[in-house]
Amino acid sequence: TVELNPGLLPLDWLLGTWESDEPGEGCFPTIKPFHYTETLNFSHVGQPVINFMFCAYNAETKKPLHRESGFIRIQPGTNKVAFIIAQNSGLVEIEEGELTDKQLNLQSQALARTSFAREPHVQQISRVFQLRPDGRLEQTVSMATDNQPLMQHLHITYRRSS
Ligand code: HEM
Repeated sequence: TVELNPGLLPLDWLLGTWESDEPGEGCFPTIKPFHYTETLNFSHVGQPVINFMFCAYNAETKKPLHRESGFIRIQPGTNKVAFIIAQNSGLVEIEEGELTDKQLNLQSQALARTSFAREPHVQQISRVFQLRPDGRLEQTVSMATDNQPLMQHLHITYRRSS
């Protein structure tokens, strides 16, 4: 195993694999509410960078749905964190925000998409990751689209599986 880069110590609580403990809840004013399961993996190769992969599935059929992967960087000597993300829907984003204790509050700083991405287009994303006192990880995602203001789309909690 490769030694953790000391620059990543503030985020070491994320590392490993997480499985949704109970199905997550998806909603948005324009869609039918839904349930999903999700596996998160955060790893490193000794660089001051976390590599991640999120895989979501339909909670009933287990069919693969949404996927994201990317990198997490911390600005050295600060609590400023950046997520560099690619989504299977054709969206790419930079999110930035702050780490406070075991909570990450992120806002999209840049969004781009394939020319043929489905509408409505996402215009803004904000998300919170929080390690709860009970050891569970929680993720909440809100988004704004062409025709809806910033509102919650996802809420889910995970249990560490390795
Ligand atoms: C719908 C964005 C993550 C499942 C949508 C819509 C958008 C969107 C723009 C269409 C809303 C509308 O028609 O007004 C995103 C973004 C995500 C994300 C930006 C991550 C940051 C996920 C995840 C799941 C998911 C993790 C889990 C399975 C769905 C479903 C719908 C939907 C089932 C409704 C049906 C459909 O339009 O396909 N999402 N989504 N999304 N999303 Fe997400």
